Amino acid sequence: MTPSYTWPIIANDMLKKLETIKAKALDELKHIASVAELEAWRVSHLGKKSELTGILRSVSTLSPDQRKAVGAFANDVKGMLEMLYKENLTAMKEQLYEGMETAAKGEKFDITLPGRPVSSGRLHPATQMLREVCDVFASLGFQVAEGPEVEWEHYNFDTLNIPADHPARDMWDTFWIDHRNEKGERHMLLRTHTSPMQIRVMEKTKPPVRVVVPGKCYRYEATDARHEAMFYQIEGLAVDEHITFADLKGTLYEFARRMFGEERRVRFRCDYFPFVEPGVEMAIDCFVCGGKGCRLCSDTGWIEILGAGMVHPQVLRNVGYDPEKYTGYAFGMGVERISMLRYGIDDIRLFYSNDLRFLKQF
Ligand code: DAH
Repeated sequence: MTPSYTWPIIANDMLKKLETIKAKALDELKHIASVAELEAWRVSHLGKKSELTGILRSVSTLSPDQRKAVGAFANDVKGMLEMLYKENLTAMKEQLYEGMETAAKGEKFDITLPGRPVSSGRLHPATQMLREVCDVFASLGFQVAEGPEVEWEHYNFDTLNIPADHPARDMWDTFWIDHRNEKGERHMLLRTHTSPMQIRVMEKTKPPVRVVVPGKCYRYEATDARHEAMFYQIEGLAVDEHITFADLKGTLYEFARRMFGEERRVRFRCDYFPFVEPGVEMAIDCFVCGGKGCRLCSDTGWIEILGAGMVHPQVLRNVGYDPEKYTGYAFGMGVERISMLRYGIDDIRLFYSNDLRFLKQF
């Protein structure tokens, strides 16, 4: 067993050692210039194999009062070195970031490199056209209204002067909803046109009425380049006292010029739609060939763009308007068709086949 008088000597040695460790560490710290050097400093003075750790481990071999003295001092030194390590590390990191910022300010990056493109979405071409047409009519004093795509037979046909079993119904191939009334008849459908909204609007408002109705329509149709089972229409309706066919012509003429160019001419020819009398089809002179005849206008010089007419007296009666007092005009057009004409698109199916190569062009 080690004689007891050696204890104070060992303890004193340890205290002296700690002083040296502390002085050496502090001195070395003054010359440290990088994070790597600081790390090496930490390992050498605070690491597992460092002298300080060795002393701390051997403290337990001392007598209780010496243990207390040496232990306390060793822990002080350790605490101080750890604190200095942390402070220096933080300061160095801050300096590093500042350096990077100054480098950026000094334009050390190549600012001529092209930036990454920001990809932005856009509206579908049909939606764009829908809005454009509605804007034209809004500027002419029309309100915009929307209605249900699942419609009653009552609005889609009956009140529009298209009675059940009348051959006129064949004009609209219909998707019927599998739902029957008390009489066992199917009476719900996907609207085949936006015209039912004429009735819904008139039922709810007194004249004067000036409204356009954009929206989806559906037809039980074999699709081809000109037909889709789902498409958009825009309906128009104006009812008031003293409205004449001249108002219809003037309004639609203005519309054609705003959509297809100032120099446009329009042509009206008789057509049949059960809810108007007289009914017409409107065409514009071909904006590609100016009327001489080309592929777009099938060599006719004219392009049909919509159906229209004076609201049938029976339709006015159906909503409780007095046809002796009120008259009106209505029109309806296919939105994709307008877009196809304007941009020279030759297949309506392109609109709904989700091909980005097509959609990105608008
Ligand atoms: N609803 C008709 C269709 O889908 C288009 C139409 C023609 C609407 C004449 C009208 C109109 O308002 O007056 O074929």
